[in-house]
Amino acid sequence: MRHFLIVALIAALLGPALALGPACQRSADAPVFTGEPSWPSPMKANLTIALLGDVAMRNESVLVFDLIKRRGADFAIHAGDFDYDNDPESWEQFIDRELGEYYPYFAVIGNHDQLRWSGYEKGIVNRMRRLGADNHCKGVPGISTVCNWEGFLFAMSGVGCRLGDHEEFLEEALGSYANPWKLCTWHKNQRMYQIGGKLSTTGYGVYDACRRAGALIHTGHEHSYSRTHLMSNFEKYAVASTDRDIHLSAGRTIAWVSGLGGRGVRDWNEDLVSNPWWAAVGASNNGIQEGALFCTFNIHGDPRRAFCEFEDIAGRIWDQFQVFSHVDPHGVPAPQSRLEEELETRNRGDDLCRTRQFEVQVMRQKDNYIFDRASGTRVLTRDAALTVDENQSVRLIFRDLPAEIPAGDLLSAHIQLLGLESDQHELPLLRIGSPVGAAEPVAWSYEDEEWEASTVWTTPDLIDIVRDAYIAAEGGIIGPSVTVDISSVFGRRSFAAFEPDMCLAASLYVEYRSC
Ligand SMILES: *[C@@H]1O[C@H](CO)[C@@H](O)[C@H](O)[C@H]1NC(C)=O
Ligand SMILES: *[C@@H]1O[C@H](CO)[C@@H](O)[C@H](O)[C@H]1NC(C)=O
Ligand SMILES: *[C@@H]1O[C@H](CO)[C@@H](O)[C@H](O)[C@H]1NC(C)=O
Repeated sequence: MRHFLIVALIAALLGPALALGPACQRSADAPVFTGEPSWPSPMKANLTIALLGDVAMRNESVLVFDLIKRRGADFAIHAGDFDYDNDPESWEQFIDRELGEYYPYFAVIGNHDQLRWSGYEKGIVNRMRRLGADNHCKGVPGISTVCNWEGFLFAMSGVGCRLGDHEEFLEEALGSYANPWKLCTWHKNQRMYQIGGKLSTTGYGVYDACRRAGALIHTGHEHSYSRTHLMSNFEKYAVASTDRDIHLSAGRTIAWVSGLGGRGVRDWNEDLVSNPWWAAVGASNNGIQEGALFCTFNIHGDPRRAFCEFEDIAGRIWDQFQVFSHVDPHGVPAPQSRLEEELETRNRGDDLCRTRQFEVQVMRQKDNYIFDRASGTRVLTRDAALTVDENQSVRLIFRDLPAEIPAGDLLSAHIQLLGLESDQHELPLLRIGSPVGAAEPVAWSYEDEEWEASTVWTTPDLIDIVRDAYIAAEGGIIGPSVTVDISSVFGRRSFAAFEPDMCLAASLYVEYRSC
């Protein structure tokens, strides 16, 4: 009884929205920036920033970098997915050669950068130290850093690529410093805030945390361009204004995907592209090419006025807008917290329900293994890859999901796996089922990144399997466990295992309704 009370109390204190125990822990000597995100002088006139993502090392990437030079961008912010070759050394050399060793190139982790992250981290840290930018940045490089460069404040988050309390980090980072211009950046998306094939993998919380601070939102991942109107709530898809001029304030901002840095151009999805919150879109359908968004701040002698345009390598302009900032007008950060906003919502009598999410990772070696399909016995392997083929399946176990969520409130569930290898000559088709519960197995033919090697693959929705686990655990005090078997109908595919790098282990991302 006593034990029960303590567990219940801890659960109540922690609340339902936390990311659970990060399996992936940083070593004590991992680099951390300890500078102060401030700048000694006022922002210069016409400060220009290149905002891009998904670059690679192709000819088109070189042309995008040429554009950065031609437009005289003072610095660049890259929203993840660097070279696509898992080659951190070549990537750094590529930036050095094209933009210069001392070019201020700020970057945040993408799903293609996970396999050799420690190498990329080293490149980022070295560049920041060369520039002296480490004195203006605080936090974990490429994962949760807030910087002030030339009077522009930006917070970079690894949400969707690394477990952590990203919403809390962003809230704290943006709420601690007054600045007329703030920007948030991360790689991944919610499905509704991109126009291509991507699934929801960040939660809405990070978008709305940045909105409350009046921070612009710069993402990548989908290889197209899309920019919203001014939003007053991302989770509720609330558009505040469709005016051409954007007026940023605490509670109102815009978000874009600028994922055309060189890797390629994808199609839009007809349903998503017609969502009413898009102010501008570009994909292969309308002929946009690789390019970047360029924003110039402190224009016409007004430190709170900016102008942005998206230009592609053919020299065509795909979007143009003016931005006026009403953020932190009194020189202190506007204190609009989530709780205050929820109170306002309650006072207006609006729907208080929110979509929240949690993510759990495989937490130990024995929770992911291969077994022989014919005999159902475990295959002893020292291989770091979990391989699925006609003769063997993979079992994954996710333990201790948050117990207090009613099964009926669960909305969606996806497993993310770091894909290592895939047959390209056969139609890839996997089946994901659970040895417990009644849920039907789910066919996995979704071709995230065309089953590209060394990027994260996201399964289709596995909500029925997760719901079964919740129903089975109902009334207990131990959170449910979800067990899935991944088997192959066609072809052979392998994923990263818990060993040797626990940061690469499979994770289960669940969205639920919280009222
Ligand atoms: C800023 O840009 C405008 C428009 O291109 C130009 O007229 C002005 O001289 C520039 N100001 C400075 C200080 O560079
Ligand atoms: C890329 O550019 C190089 C040098 O300009 C050229 O030799 C090569 O053919 C180009 N490759 C492609 C795929 O266009
Ligand atoms: C699966 O097992 C059969 C029978 O032992 C064998 O002939 C076949 O090569 C195996 N397939 C793979 C991909 O190892």
